Amino acid sequence: MVKFRRAVAPGSFDPITLGHLDVIERASAIFDEVVVAVLVNSTKAGLFSIEERMDLIRHSVSHLGNVSVDSWTGLLADYCKEHEVSAIIKGLRAVSDFDYELQMSQMNHQLKGIETFFMATKPDYSFLSSSLVKEIAKYGGDVSSWVPPHVHSALQSQFAK
Ligand code: PNS
Repeated sequence: MVKFRRAVAPGSFDPITLGHLDVIERASAIFDEVVVAVLVNSTKAGLFSIEERMDLIRHSVSHLGNVSVDSWTGLLADYCKEHEVSAIIKGLRAVSDFDYELQMSQMNHQLKGIETFFMATKPDYSFLSSSLVKEIAKYGGDVSSWVPPHVHSALQSQFAK
């Protein structure tokens, strides 16, 4: 019996990368429904607005019929409870991700009984992060191997301003 029908893939997605997309695609093959939720990470300054991030994600997941996009300001655990989501999907790139992700997963379970499932990212993307992509793009480096083409264009326009 499938118990975890609706899962959420939360993140800052500032912007979405091919590493995120890989995890979302693999999650969409396992769960009936995946909601990609843009949440505010209070420790990170944003480049794109929440609406811009959502548009970039929508365009990236348009080939996945069971994936939708949403945003939320507040606790992820509250989002899950309000939207009847029982599973959180997080990609793990390296051991360095693990400490904080484990802490958050245990807190989300403690808060509202939400389960977190970790998915190992593809080794091709284990070094990849939105922060590094932004830094490279800011100084004119080529990030086209790590983001979808429309995200690449959005980064170029953003830094041309
Ligand atoms: O892509 P990120 O920045 O690694 O995503 C982290 C994010 C946004 C998923 C995390 O910071 C989060 O869940 N923020 C929402 C607020 C919240 O619930 N904080 C308590 C976590 S236990």
